[in-house]
Amino acid sequence: MIRAISSSLALVVAAATAAIATAPHSDFKVILSSVRKNSSARPRVATWRSGPTSEHLLDYFNGTDLQYFGNISIGTPPQHFTVVFDTGSPLLVIPGTECGSACRTQRQFNPSASSTFVDQNASSTLTFGTGIGVTPVNGSNWQLHLSAVTDTVSVAGLTVNSTDLFLITNETATFLEDPFDGIMGLSPSSASFFEAGGYRPLMGMFFTPKNKGGAEITLGGVDTTKFKTPLVFSPSLVDDDWQLSSLGIYVNGKTTSELNNTVPLFFDSGTSNMLFVESIALAIYRMISPDIVANDDEPGTFGIACDLIPKLPAVIDITFAGIAGHPPFNLTIPSSELSSGPFANKPEMCQTLINVSEGFNLVGLSLLKHYYSAWNFTGPSIGFSPNRI
Ligand SMILES: *[C@@H]1O[C@H](CO)[C@@H](O)[C@H](O)[C@H]1NC(C)=O
Ligand SMILES: *[C@@H]1O[C@H](CO)[C@@H](O)[C@H](O)[C@H]1NC(C)=O
Ligand SMILES: *[C@@H]1O[C@H](CO)[C@@H](O)[C@H](O)[C@H]1NC(C)=O
Ligand SMILES: *[C@@H]1O[C@H](CO)[C@@H](O)[C@H](O)[C@H]1NC(C)=O
Ligand SMILES: *[C@@H]1O[C@H](CO)[C@@H](O)[C@H](O)[C@H]1NC(C)=O
Ligand SMILES: *[C@@H]1O[C@H](CO)[C@@H](O)[C@H](O)[C@H]1NC(C)=O
Ligand SMILES: *[C@@H]1O[C@H](CO)[C@@H](O)[C@H](O)[C@H]1NC(C)=O
Ligand SMILES: *[C@@H]1O[C@H](CO)[C@@H](O)[C@H](O)[C@H]1NC(C)=O
Ligand SMILES: *[C@@H]1O[C@H](CO)[C@@H](O)[C@H](O)[C@H]1NC(C)=O
Ligand SMILES: *[C@@H]1O[C@H](CO)[C@@H](O)[C@H](O)[C@H]1NC(C)=O
Ligand SMILES: *[C@@H]1O[C@H](CO)[C@@H](O)[C@H](O)[C@H]1NC(C)=O
Repeated sequence: MIRAISSSLALVVAAATAAIATAPHSDFKVILSSVRKNSSARPRVATWRSGPTSEHLLDYFNGTDLQYFGNISIGTPPQHFTVVFDTGSPLLVIPGTECGSACRTQRQFNPSASSTFVDQNASSTLTFGTGIGVTPVNGSNWQLHLSAVTDTVSVAGLTVNSTDLFLITNETATFLEDPFDGIMGLSPSSASFFEAGGYRPLMGMFFTPKNKGGAEITLGGVDTTKFKTPLVFSPSLVDDDWQLSSLGIYVNGKTTSELNNTVPLFFDSGTSNMLFVESIALAIYRMISPDIVANDDEPGTFGIACDLIPKLPAVIDITFAGIAGHPPFNLTIPSSELSSGPFANKPEMCQTLINVSEGFNLVGLSLLKHYYSAWNFTGPSIGFSPNRI
């Protein structure tokens, strides 16, 4: 995970969220505030298109099944890109041709080839404070230069004119491993994008293992063929982020005084694993095995000898508040998620699924993969039903 530590001009970095992943367990999060929220907003439409629209997702499989991305297009005529659909951030970020060789592994948007492009003449630099995988932070070696623009954006047939987005004009080489071009932030503020496109502000996400296939994102509704039992919803604690109230954590059916507490938990489709504050992470690990230890080579990560993993039960149940009038419910992370695979520099040791964060709690695909999730931008709230796979 990379945290933004500085920025300039048009953008103000408020906290951490968006997601570029390079290796299997690699993400960064940036929440940018001061987005020009109004320009893509349209008057609320009274009637929505009849049905939702879906888009297949590709699974970046390199030892883990924890990063998904799909196609979008930008401009007139459309230029095509792949993005991570990231509930942990609010911005659409895509490499621009100005980035040139610095973004050589990614497709680049050519503004001069789009008749609907408008330069907003504002730029910003983002410098990140924690790195990805084995590439450590060293000064400003994780940095994006961004330019604010507007153009037509189209996802799975949902098309919106004059959408705010940010072109990457330069980046550090640390980003070049990414198997996708950019990030499409889908924090609750994206409700205006759905509405402007004529769709209900509701989204379904279906993440499946690569060997099953069929992962998809659905805009304007949910795909009821992908789950059996009715969705159960939990309300977001805040209007501008997907942050549910977790009422307690159980490991193999048991809880402790450190875990039987109410804490806010971010839901982030752009992040692979889980992040907890140290007291919670350590309390969970203590209940799984005393052999799980911090890996000092990569601060914040933990691991255990790979040959011990198959024997370890590590079922994590997290209890969430229901929406008004509905009881709490559990979401379960099965033991199979405990290992994120061997550390690159210590192959006999496997990374375990929880990193220690600096002051917040977050779950990503190691939980979302086991449920169909419905993201209701009005409210906001998130609904879950076990994956029908
Ligand atoms: C945990 O740390 C590892 C190593 O720095 C990193 O690759 C991974 O992205 C982190 N996971 C999360 C969820 O931040
Ligand atoms: C956004 O729109 C509202 C109402 O239309 C207006 O009051 C507000 O000033 C606008 N904000 C910006 C930043 O343009
Ligand atoms: C994305 O678009 C490309 C063509 O540009 C196509 O080959 C690919 O199958 C699409 N991916 C998905 C997941 O639909
Ligand atoms: C898969 O991961 C390995 C080790 O982490 C890395 O060396 C390799 O480049 C990755 N492959 C792809 C296609 O990203
Ligand atoms: C940005 O600057 C260019 C060149 O000065 C100008 O044509 C354009 O209208 C400006 N864009 C906006 C949104 O003001
Ligand atoms: C950090 O970067 C500087 C140059 O920017 C380099 O001289 C130094 O060796 C790097 N440190 C590490 C630990 O890689
Ligand atoms: C979007 O722009 C196209 C032309 O670029 C125009 O035909 C269409 O009416 C616009 N749609 C809306 C909703 O303004
Ligand atoms: C892009 O950033 C790199 C550092 O990552 C820097 O060396 C280079 O000069 C920058 N290029 C431009 C055009 O600003
Ligand atoms: C959640 O799971 C734990 C066991 O791990 C159980 O004791 C608890 O009753 C469950 N809570 C709900 C709301 O189902
Ligand atoms: C968890 O805490 C609640 C009070 O907040 C208490 O009623 C309950 O008995 C505790 N559960 C366990 C298993 O300790
Ligand atoms: C979304 O939330 C709003 C506000 O709570 C509610 O009225 C609406 O029924 C919800 N939609 C779905 C599909 O759950």
